[in-house]
Amino acid sequence: MSSNPSFSDSTQLDPQRLPTHVAIIMDGNGRWAKKRLLNRIQGHEKGAETVRTIVRTCRETGIAHLTLYAFSTENWQRPKVEVEALMVLLKRFLVEEQSELMENRIRLNAIGQIERLPESVREQLHRTMHLTAENRKMTLHLALSYGGRSEIVRMVRTIAETAASGGIGGGDITEETVSRHLYTSGIPDPDLLIRTSGEMRISNFLLWQIAYAEIFVTDTLWPDFGREEFLAILQAYQKRERRFGRVKE
Ligand code: IPE
Ligand code: IPE
Ligand code: MG
Repeated sequence: MSSNPSFSDSTQLDPQRLPTHVAIIMDGNGRWAKKRLLNRIQGHEKGAETVRTIVRTCRETGIAHLTLYAFSTENWQRPKVEVEALMVLLKRFLVEEQSELMENRIRLNAIGQIERLPESVREQLHRTMHLTAENRKMTLHLALSYGGRSEIVRMVRTIAETAASGGIGGGDITEETVSRHLYTSGIPDPDLLIRTSGEMRISNFLLWQIAYAEIFVTDTLWPDFGREEFLAILQAYQKRERRFGRVKE
């Protein structure tokens, strides 16, 4: 039981004011492990359990899109053993979650430089995405080898190539054109961005898409993050006034 029951109850939420898209920077696995004199990989293992909890909570709450920052373009620079362990964990997650994703009608999607992932991980990713492709209750987007800047470069290149071949004029390029050429094409922008472990930075996540996201940073380390705190953040989100640059009526 929670010490504050209102925080643990998803029925306290106003279904009309739920975020359509929640994006999370899942940070703090290493610090969680260090505090317990464990190795960083054990922190990532524990972090994978939080992923399961938060996916379930989103599904139960009725959130349509959840994007999880699982591996950044910069994370390739971590020690080889850690990168390899993260890839093993990712593959295991994809295999083990298949049945739950199917039961809950959750579609899996991936954003990022998927081509850089090890072949066996890529194959499993495609299998799970294919299997869940028709699910319509919720979409789980995993950001894998994802970087906002590299996504923007890729978008500019594609549009430049179209322009060079006469497919589009410079003056025809709009915000909509840009959005359509990002990995997140067709996905509504995040309404809510959560970062665990207290760091006040974006770390190259969804740079274009978070233009008007409401930001919540919690000091809780990702492995310690859970259903109740997530629901509390949703409640706090519902109390925020989103103005989008306008003035209140
Ligand atoms: C987040 O936890 C997981 C990934 C970035 C893959 P960290 O591994 O960054 O944990 P800290 O920041 O070192 O505590
Ligand atoms: C951001 O966390 C990336 C992911 C959560 C996958 P990092 O731990 O890599 O970010 P920095 O190094 O603190 O900016
Ligand atoms: Mg970190």
